[in-house]
Amino acid sequence: MKLNCLALSCSPRKNGNTALLARQALAAAQAAGCRTELLHLADYRYAPCLACDGCFAGGRCVVEDDAGLIFEKILAADRLILAAPVFFMGICAQAKMLIDRAQQFWAEKYILKKEVIPHKKTRPARRGILLSCGGAALPGTFDGVVQVVRPFFKMLEIELVATLCYAGVDRAGEILKNPKALEEVYKAAQTLSVP
Ligand SMILES: Cc1cc2nc3c(=O)[nH]c(=O)nc-3n(C[C@H](O)[C@H](O)[C@H](O)COP(=O)(O)O)c2cc1C
Repeated sequence: MKLNCLALSCSPRKNGNTALLARQALAAAQAAGCRTELLHLADYRYAPCLACDGCFAGGRCVVEDDAGLIFEKILAADRLILAAPVFFMGICAQAKMLIDRAQQFWAEKYILKKEVIPHKKTRPARRGILLSCGGAALPGTFDGVVQVVRPFFKMLEIELVATLCYAGVDRAGEILKNPKALEEVYKAAQTLSVP
């Protein structure tokens, strides 16, 4: 059975550095036998969390927009590649807005005491990787990104098996001049095909 591998490309630049890394990772996962899909958050429209606590009643967000479609795909995936750039020392807003909307899963799990992952017992354990790029090369550049993605993966019961972050990469496409990065990402993503 082929594993479903979804890449979430979070940058507004659909041909930017993190999108290129997401494509590289998907190419590896596909070559290793996964069914793959690339999703650009830039193609979707969703609001930030309103903190209305509406999800506390049924475990679903009361705001009807594209976040629901994206979460359906995330829940169906066996493997998740999250690719997001650093903006102002944190994860880009497109990613953070979606991650905040995962509050509905927090409500489902901790308030309603329900299972978040459909058919969990009959599915392989979920795993994923984080890919990021930042233009600067300052200490701690990626700390904010990692700190946000860790609880997001935990909430969605995805084991974070690799975090690959590249500093000093700024102009769109610049990551292509870094063959070591492309190789590292390829190798890490190959392992996603292992059940
Ligand atoms: C609004 C904005 C804020 C940014 N802030 C940072 C930052 O704090 N630290 C950093 O290293 N790079 C920063 N960058 C640079 C991006 O992280 C860098 O260009 C990265 O390669 C973009 O990835 P992408 O091509 O996938 O969008 C910022 C870029 C933008 C547009």
